Amino acid sequence: MTSSHAMHARSLADPQGFWAEQAARIDWETPFERVLDDSHAPFARWFVGGRTNICHNAIDRHLPTRAQSRALVYVSTETGEERIYTYAQLHDEVVRMAAILQSLGVEKGDRVLIYMPMIPEALFAMLACTRIGAIHSVVFGGFASVSLAARIDDARPRVIVSADAGSRAGKVVPYKPLLDEAIRLASHQPEKVLLVDRQLSDMPRDAGRDEDYAAWRERVAGAEVPCVWLESNEPSYVLYTSGTTGKPKGVQRDTGGYAVALATSIEYIFCGKPGDTMFTASDIGWVVGHSYIVYAPLLAGMSTVMYEGTPVRPDGGILWKLVEQYGVNMLFTAPTAIRVLKKQDPALLRRHDLSSLRLLFLAGEPLDEPTARWIQDGIGKPVVDNYWQTESGWPIIAIQRGVEALPAKLGSPGVPAYGYDLRIVDEVTGEECPPGQKGVVAIDYPLPPGCMSTLWGDDDRFVRTYWTAVPNRRSYSTFDWGVRDEDGYVFILGRTDDVINVAGHRLGTREIEESLSSHNGVAEVAVVGVQDALKGQVAMGFCIARDAARTATPADRVALEGELMKTVDQQLGAVARPARVYFVNVLPKTRSGKLLRRAIQAVAEGRDPGDLTTIEDPTALEQIKAAMAE
Ligand code: PRX
Repeated sequence: MTSSHAMHARSLADPQGFWAEQAARIDWETPFERVLDDSHAPFARWFVGGRTNICHNAIDRHLPTRAQSRALVYVSTETGEERIYTYAQLHDEVVRMAAILQSLGVEKGDRVLIYMPMIPEALFAMLACTRIGAIHSVVFGGFASVSLAARIDDARPRVIVSADAGSRAGKVVPYKPLLDEAIRLASHQPEKVLLVDRQLSDMPRDAGRDEDYAAWRERVAGAEVPCVWLESNEPSYVLYTSGTTGKPKGVQRDTGGYAVALATSIEYIFCGKPGDTMFTASDIGWVVGHSYIVYAPLLAGMSTVMYEGTPVRPDGGILWKLVEQYGVNMLFTAPTAIRVLKKQDPALLRRHDLSSLRLLFLAGEPLDEPTARWIQDGIGKPVVDNYWQTESGWPIIAIQRGVEALPAKLGSPGVPAYGYDLRIVDEVTGEECPPGQKGVVAIDYPLPPGCMSTLWGDDDRFVRTYWTAVPNRRSYSTFDWGVRDEDGYVFILGRTDDVINVAGHRLGTREIEESLSSHNGVAEVAVVGVQDALKGQVAMGFCIARDAARTATPADRVALEGELMKTVDQQLGAVARPARVYFVNVLPKTRSGKLLRRAIQAVAEGRDPGDLTTIEDPTALEQIKAAMAE
């Protein structure tokens, strides 16, 4: 066994050789001519000229050896449903879905927007798209109409796949009215909407546009839909994520590089092998769901568990019950899920037989030491923190236990993964920081296979956003602060930009500010992320009302705060709703008018706001304190 250090060094010294070897993990219809084309930096093209198909590699390739093996386990504690699909059955469903999409006019390169709850049909739709070379864009089910409309206008889908409703913690959330409203708001109009009827809520239908999935599924029985071979760099999907402006960023992923990167990560990072069972308790609307519910486990010939439900219903033992029931080998979730469990009876951790479980993976937000210790001791399994982003598609920093089981250091996700030329750099000079000195976590060109290839429809924004933030070097900025210790372990110290992380959900504070500002009672507003014991961070709003009379009494303030929360709910969805909105007469700004968000955040967290020489009106911070103390 090689050391992680040696593998990392080799992957950077000889990327062509290293990744050519990894590429053998998948089938290629036409072999690639070049491993890496770096002639158009900062763009990188991997496996140039190679033709492949992700759906072929995730399903068809396994049919000769594992047609009768379990591919997908679906469990919903919301509806009580359980469905199990073998690879042969999954193939049948995906081919049917592909045939339906083709019948509705979808062709290679067309976008299909998927706005779905956690049901198998969502996974069928994703794989059906990659089968026919259509580009899927999954939008988190239940996202508010305004956000959904912005994504419809950016992706310009020919078809939208959706359902009547989702369900969360026993509460049905009708999706169809949200979708209809989004289509009404959008300037781009999809030609067709394909609807799965779960019979959870009544669904109005538009006769000319809306199509019924169940009827179509019967109609296309027996259809054959061959995989469309794509050049490795043709897009597989676009996934929107939050940035510092209100305009969402469509992270575009390629085909060959992504398949190779995921297959490689399953062995080196997740220690998986064909026949294993992986349970990723996340959502298909997030990157963790794309990579580790849908694609990676199937690419590796494993079975994947797809779960609709929360970690505490019917009780806090549900995750462990599912581990026992389905013989789960790797469980992957977010630290927030574990923090939620900490409030439950610890005996629940010991009620089920966890002998199949080898490792617990946690990602998406900082893993605090007490939580890591609590769960590690509670279940007696190693916890593997891993750090990455929507943009990277797979872990950037982790203990790569499939390479070498380096000791974990609590508070650090580990060391840079093979393929990533990760540097901690000075934000002003771009020079590398010595161990112990805080800097920006950056990745020197090129990004390895599987990472974003560009922003959908906006190469300039891709270059401007990610590749110019670090001065004086050709480096991708993660927009995270970090520090490296003498042994090369990296510690993540929070974002450098205005992105916050609420219970593992990535939100732009500017998005929330724009939403609050759209309310006619608001003159000015600042939103910051404030530390929270359960959710990691929560959003907090500080607002100047347009008319002081509207915030004169405590009752007035409660009423306006309620209205503002409702506005965010409707426009961005409940995840973005601030924990509180406070009212002030002035916001802390520099003399040039720039909002001092970091000072507001420091005061809101009870810390020293630091150097305030540039502040226009020093009483502004006193007002923040006073408003919060009320
Ligand atoms: O700030 C980092 C934080 O989450 C951001 C990326 O979020 P998202 O695009 O939703 O992708 C999540 C993929 C797992 C990062 O820029 N983050 C993610 N993982 C960790 C983390 N912060 C600390 N520790 C982690 N393990």
